[in-house]
Amino acid sequence: MCGIFAYTGNKGKEAGGVLLDGLLSLEYRGYDSAGIFTPESGSVRSPGAVAELRKKMPKDFAGKSGIAHLRWATHGEPTEKNAHPHGSCDGEIWVVHNGIIENFKELKAKLERAGHTFSSDTDTEVLTHLIEEHLKHEKSFEKAALAALNEVRGTYGIALQYKKEPDRIIAARMGSPIVLGLGDGEHFIASDPTPILPHTRKVVFLEDGEVAVISPDGHRIFKLDSTKVKRDATDIDWSAEAAQKGGYEHFMLKEIMEGPEVIENTLRGRLIPEKGLAKLGGLETVAKQLEKIDRIIIVACGTASYAAQVGEYMLEEHARIPVEVEIGSEFRYKKPVVNERTAVLAISQSGETLDTLEAVREGKRHGALTLGIVNAVGSTIARETDAGVYNHAGPEVSVASTKAFLSQLTALALFTIFLGRQRGMTAAQGKEIARALKELPKKIQAILDTKEEIQKLAKKYAHARDFLYIGRKYNYPIAYEGAIKLKEISYIHAEGCGAGEMKHGPIAMIDENFPTMAIAPKDSMYEKMISNIHEIKARKGPVIAVATEGDKEIAKLADDVIYVPETLEMLSPILNVVPLQLFAYYFAKEKGLNVDRPRNLAKSVTVE
Ligand code: G6P
Repeated sequence: MCGIFAYTGNKGKEAGGVLLDGLLSLEYRGYDSAGIFTPESGSVRSPGAVAELRKKMPKDFAGKSGIAHLRWATHGEPTEKNAHPHGSCDGEIWVVHNGIIENFKELKAKLERAGHTFSSDTDTEVLTHLIEEHLKHEKSFEKAALAALNEVRGTYGIALQYKKEPDRIIAARMGSPIVLGLGDGEHFIASDPTPILPHTRKVVFLEDGEVAVISPDGHRIFKLDSTKVKRDATDIDWSAEAAQKGGYEHFMLKEIMEGPEVIENTLRGRLIPEKGLAKLGGLETVAKQLEKIDRIIIVACGTASYAAQVGEYMLEEHARIPVEVEIGSEFRYKKPVVNERTAVLAISQSGETLDTLEAVREGKRHGALTLGIVNAVGSTIARETDAGVYNHAGPEVSVASTKAFLSQLTALALFTIFLGRQRGMTAAQGKEIARALKELPKKIQAILDTKEEIQKLAKKYAHARDFLYIGRKYNYPIAYEGAIKLKEISYIHAEGCGAGEMKHGPIAMIDENFPTMAIAPKDSMYEKMISNIHEIKARKGPVIAVATEGDKEIAKLADDVIYVPETLEMLSPILNVVPLQLFAYYFAKEKGLNVDRPRNLAKSVTVE
């Protein structure tokens, strides 16, 4: 995700102070490393959050303009050398970037052949060298920057500064947000309005493919092909806190609404749809070893463990390899049977959950190949595993995990194609999954667009003290995930259960005050689910069904229906969980609870 902030002014303010304050208010966008540059004092960078950067800045750090950055690592460890801003060889051109430059490897190789020396492992650094290269032929910095931007592929929200033109800063947007702040004798560039609001409420949002130049007294906007853009400023009446949440009331809702973008980020550059292949750079070094393993044990805790269970079904059905899921807190105490032909795969948003980490270490002790699906780059699990796949979901602030879960399932689907194609999955099957994955973002958006209806349902059921969640096969773990979302933020008793297992106990609880959420897509388990819903209705239990669009039959049986678009059976959990996340959110909101920080829970559990 990352946060960028830039300032230029003629009001006699010290840019250093303005930029540090701005970064502090942006910390929810990333805290792996922070950095700042002014033409007068150069760059200071530090791993960790803004407090660490402040400690490193010399007392005489000065400047009337500058650029600053907070990093949420994607490429390269969160170290000082990988912290932004990044400079060109001659130290004249500096950049801060939010996004991913997809063709950075080709560009880097080309630039290295032309004599450029890189000092970081990031994708971002190619930008400054590319501009430096173009500056050899172009007449102005602006033209060189445009030429470079026309050569890169991927996503970016950037701010660029050139030492020889200290009061001008260039911004550009492609996929990652950029907003300009228009003040009196001072102008700003940021990833979102938060750091701008203390200075001015007049902002201009850039659109994809647009470039802007700011100076203390004005701004210009044009497109990548140099055509001028005229855009009126907007007056923002958000509080700084609302701005951090993108205008939403809670981080949880903001993070649920980021679903489509998160899936695109997890998939970006990793599918070769025409060949039905998944390209997972992080697994290349162990690809040969993966061919030899005969079993996978997935270790995880909480929501990540439900993603793991969906992964078990995906991998067994489509990659034909035996998979077991173990919760982190049990694995190392049960004397597991593990050897060199076992892969231990850890799934963790934070990469710091102690029980999951210890499970990885236990696997290592027995000679297993250890892998990770981790969101936080450079976290302990990411470092200690032999290889892995990063989620690229951006920071998740709300304690209840939502967007990270979607990205974990997406990464597992990619891993299934990767492993499956090593083990007999045909190209046609690989292509079918790849195609369906690419369609998920717009399908999730369609579900998110019905959020008001889900809110009404949450209101209707808000009196309930208990809830049962049922599902089968791929949606069996989703029943557990739906239930945990409700209990962790609403403090309501909610129970997940395999619908077939319901008869062995939970059904005894059902009466007219005990509603059931039944996840019943039109898949291979549909008929069985319908029978299970009948069993509940026979005991007067109210039923909300999560069903496939167009299924009119189920509406006759269930009290309420939430429709979701159709997709492949193995990917249906990625869609079905979204209404359950929204339902839990609105349910807790209805009760006036602290949705983002539920009592007794922590975002990252680093104790046993
Ligand atoms: C805590 C969080 C959960 C999360 C679990 C695992 O319990 O509250 O939301 O699923 O830890 O965290 P991890 O960072 O390993 O995914």
